[in-house]
Amino acid sequence: MQQHNVLILDFGSQYTQLIARRVRELNIYCEIHPYNKLPENLDSFKAVILSGSPVSVKSDDALHPDLSNIRGIKPILAVCYGAQYLAHFSDGLVASSNTREYGRANLSYIKESEIFFANISEGSQVWMSHSDTIKELPKNAVLLASTNDVKNAAYKIKGETTFAIQFHPEVYHSTDGKQLLENFLVSIAGIEQNWTPDSFVDETVTKLKAKLKDDKVVLGLSGGVDSTVAAVLLHKAIGNNLHCIFVNNGLLRKNEFTDVLKQYEGMGLNVKGVDASARFLNELAGLKDPEAKRKAIGKVFIDVFDDEATKIENAKWLAQGTIYPDVIESVSATGGPSATIKSHHNVGGLPDFMKLKVVEPLRMIFKDEVRRVGASMGIDKDLLGRHPFPGPGLAIRILGDIDAEKVRILQEVDAIFINGLKENNLYNKVWQAGAILLPVNSVGVMGDERTYEKVVALRAVESTDGMTADWVNLPYEFLQKISNQIINNVKGVNRVVYDISSKPPATIEWE
Ligand code: XMP
Repeated sequence: MQQHNVLILDFGSQYTQLIARRVRELNIYCEIHPYNKLPENLDSFKAVILSGSPVSVKSDDALHPDLSNIRGIKPILAVCYGAQYLAHFSDGLVASSNTREYGRANLSYIKESEIFFANISEGSQVWMSHSDTIKELPKNAVLLASTNDVKNAAYKIKGETTFAIQFHPEVYHSTDGKQLLENFLVSIAGIEQNWTPDSFVDETVTKLKAKLKDDKVVLGLSGGVDSTVAAVLLHKAIGNNLHCIFVNNGLLRKNEFTDVLKQYEGMGLNVKGVDASARFLNELAGLKDPEAKRKAIGKVFIDVFDDEATKIENAKWLAQGTIYPDVIESVSATGGPSATIKSHHNVGGLPDFMKLKVVEPLRMIFKDEVRRVGASMGIDKDLLGRHPFPGPGLAIRILGDIDAEKVRILQEVDAIFINGLKENNLYNKVWQAGAILLPVNSVGVMGDERTYEKVVALRAVESTDGMTADWVNLPYEFLQKISNQIINNVKGVNRVVYDISSKPPATIEWE
């Protein structure tokens, strides 16, 4: 099957990843590259989308892409900065706008005869987010649509399949944005919509077979979605040459080690469970500082993993569940046009001395696509719908120093909370939830007795990627029930509080 690819050139817009997600929703494969680093395989891309940017085309910092091998050769859709760039750096005119152009607008005077606007009618809502505006189009341009405030809202260049729009089709508030992307990519650029989870699985398995041949691969399973989907893909490609290691760091949820291990074995994976709880707890003893705790856990994990990996003779590869947002080279909006790589928000990397080559079967797909790929391979939907859980586990939810008794208490509390969410149909409405054991005792009264016991906090947030989050308005009756259940059943806890902080300024985890 011939893959039709779309190239998205990133000028640092906060919406660039959203463009990619919308294109992929159309079952079309796309990749994001920095505006100043064209991919070597440029020929294989059938269309190009220029993203928006926080930078003004009129500033000294204006970003200049080299479009010489693209313009007039491949269909182009220029969004926001892209549209202004095409106007400003030919004979059009871009100037600061008198009115603020943020938020909703409605398209008018649409050239409905244009395929570009097929199935989109007069008045369609679009989302604007710009402070410069295109006052005059280039001489070789034709106006395609306006809005009340923006005369030149959409135009095309004569004699090229180059289209430019001032609004953002990728945001959900542009109600026909997806239709517009489809019109451009499918009807104008002639791209086939054949990129589906099934086609991704077939293609990836074929590539993995060719790459790995009879080599042995080691993979660290975490119980999370990414490492599980990566493992199942690799298992499809190389069977039992994939050796999975699932480490119990003693900081997992209650019964998680045995339950998840059983689930993995049921899926036919070649997996070894290693219970290293004592080693982790030893290393953590007396440590209070959050970063010191994270480092200690990272170090023990590497030691344990290395011990196990070296037992697998002739292992050549290390597989990781890295996903696309971790590897997109982002264009820095504040530091000028230099490109930086996002740092991994994870427990340490693996050391070079392991001398394993790295294979990352999910590195080109987004989180929601990982779930769809997992579902298409028949992975249990409960496993795919699991909330994210941090690598250092409960260690960063036990504030201050850690011992086995505190872990036990928090596991009990967390289990009551999470099971409660599931039983009350709330689990899937929450992006992430957990309990935090505070380093505080409070006075209580149980029967006729005074108690002086621990306080726990419950946290439930909604989010899309963990970068920003808001607390969830869980029903009072639910919180009341859970609080009673915790205090009545978990020895050592006499008070429950609910965290009502958003991120920012708080973070999701307390440490
Ligand atoms: P914060 O607390 O930074 O968390 O708002 C955002 C998301 O990242 C997870 N998290 C971690 N994940 N190692 C991980 O693998 C870590 O050290 C770590 N710290 C936070 C957190 O659970 C949330 O989903």
